[in-house]
Amino acid sequence: MLTGIKPTGVPHIGNYLGAIAPALQRANQFENVFFFIADYHALNSIKNPDELHRLTLSVAATWLAAGLDPNKIHLYRQSDIPEIFELQALLNNITPKGWMNKMHAYKAQVDINTEQNRPKDSGINMGLYIYPLLMASDILIFNSDAVPVGSDQVQHLEIARDIAKRFNNDYQKDVFTLPEFILEKGIEELPGLDGRKMSKSYANTIPLFSSEQQWSEAVKKIVTDNQEHTPESFQNTVFYKIFSAIADQKTTGVLVNDFVGGKIGWKDAKERLVEQLVQEFSQKTEHYNQLIANPAEINKILHQTAKDIRPIAQKTLQQAKAAVGIR
Ligand code: TRP
Repeated sequence: MLTGIKPTGVPHIGNYLGAIAPALQRANQFENVFFFIADYHALNSIKNPDELHRLTLSVAATWLAAGLDPNKIHLYRQSDIPEIFELQALLNNITPKGWMNKMHAYKAQVDINTEQNRPKDSGINMGLYIYPLLMASDILIFNSDAVPVGSDQVQHLEIARDIAKRFNNDYQKDVFTLPEFILEKGIEELPGLDGRKMSKSYANTIPLFSSEQQWSEAVKKIVTDNQEHTPESFQNTVFYKIFSAIADQKTTGVLVNDFVGGKIGWKDAKERLVEQLVQEFSQKTEHYNQLIANPAEINKILHQTAKDIRPIAQKTLQQAKAAVGIR
């Protein structure tokens, strides 16, 4: 199993509950697991070098603090495996341009340009245009069988599979394993403080690694109402959706009873949520802070993994080169 994480932001609890925790769960089902930080993919949107560097370390620290055991899961940085980029150069030559033209992410940009009366490809660089080619190379180089992804990535996975098929077929050699995607639904969309989807771009997030005081400040901003609530109507509130995503069933049940029974109001309910955040994330926060304060430690892990797994990449690349006649 393999999956890539684009380091484009410091993760919040929505990312943790919706992606990080389910991915770590999923990893338990596989013997050989590869998780990597897709820094070359991030280059397409992050243009500030210090920011890219900081986010790469931050994402690695996040996964480690979230419970990823680097002795069981290969955690590496895409840029530490140069074979990926060399393999992509081979794949470029068997991939029809038309496959890139129909990609959603590219088409969405073209649509915006058309709407705003700009030339169709305005502002679109080749990194965006051939994004699925780099992804295919990420996947094929390690002979991945299974790739868990969100629904936005399914099309990219289909392209990766088509590229593998086309290569094997053109050169009449089974060089590449055909990867399957696993669609991760995650939890039902988690609302943010204002009730819209929790997202960095709405500035309505609850931080993942934080302090009691900051969690408390965030939680105070969760929108509430003055209605009388039944258990059913309470379960439709933004507060309940956030609380129940973090607390276990029993704690959630007690909260619903106490709130609907009039024993507590919003202020107490919110204090209970802060308690839950402290319980769930303060140890992880400590671990995260300790890693971030010691980037050498993070780099050591990433470099060691790269050293361990590069021979696999070298072997695949060598087979692909031999197949095309570069021997
Ligand atoms: N494109 C993925 C995303 O934006 C990240 C990614 C890069 C990836 N390479 C990958 C995911 C290979 C799965 C497999 O989330």
